[in-house]
Amino acid sequence: MLALNAVSKRYPNGTRALADISLAVDAGEILAIVGGSGCGKSTLLRLAAGLEAPTTGEVQVDGERIAGPHPAVGLVFQEPRLLPWLTVAGNVGFGLAALAPTERAAKVNAALARVGLADYAARWPRELSGGQAQRVALARALVTNPRVLLLDEPFSALDAFTRVDLQDHLLDLWADTRPTLVLVTHDIEEALVLADRVMVMRAHPGRIAGVLTLEAPRPRDRQSGTFERAKRQLLADLGRAGTYRSGEEAFPTAAI
Ligand SMILES: Nc1ncnc2c1ncn2[C@@H]1O[C@H](COP(=O)(O)OP(=O)(O)O)[C@@H](O)[C@H]1O
Ligand SMILES: [Mg+2]
Repeated sequence: MLALNAVSKRYPNGTRALADISLAVDAGEILAIVGGSGCGKSTLLRLAAGLEAPTTGEVQVDGERIAGPHPAVGLVFQEPRLLPWLTVAGNVGFGLAALAPTERAAKVNAALARVGLADYAARWPRELSGGQAQRVALARALVTNPRVLLLDEPFSALDAFTRVDLQDHLLDLWADTRPTLVLVTHDIEEALVLADRVMVMRAHPGRIAGVLTLEAPRPRDRQSGTFERAKRQLLADLGRAGTYRSGEEAFPTAAI
């Protein structure tokens, strides 16, 4: 379980990126985070990944305080951020330098197979399409078998077809080991297709405006009437979110 306990983040320039965020994401749960730009979504993920320290409060994974990058927590950014001077295999295995070469190669190959790129180990980043590069970034995050996988708008730079393809693929990957998954997205449909709960954030200071619970089993039908209704509700909630008090009871459950 990923827990943020009364976490706030104030940057040195005075920006209150997050104010008093308390949040628990269950083992195996998929939480989507939506909200306008600047409301602290990326800051929240960086704190959860241990890349940044909270000003107050703390982040825990399965009860252990996260004080820096941790093998149990994987993070994928909007851009793949592959190192151009390393092959695909080199990129995926970058964080495994402590392992013996044969063990490292086995893990790298298994991770590449999981994202459908088993034949791409010797390729260079520049030889990949956008979707392939993002799958390599996913493989790099998955190679340590993280219990918590954090994704920061991972598909937003991709075309619509590739995006839907990778959303389905992400669900397959998740089903393998059922990590806790936190997905920041600006795509409402993506949130409604993938998530158990959708958390809406507001800016100045960054805070939780409300949380929508989705009870329909996956895979979900994007064309169904109930899906359309849930989408309208979430869009309306996003528009009204400024009037909500912070807290998880703000939104009703949507049965899509
Ligand atoms: N390193 C930083 N230093 C100062 N301010 C920052 C830094 N990173 C983000 N911010 C500010 O914190 C707020 C939240 O940013 P961010 O977490 O990137 O939001 P989001 O991902 O929701 O767009 C914004 O006002 C942003 O300008
Ligand atoms: Mg961001």
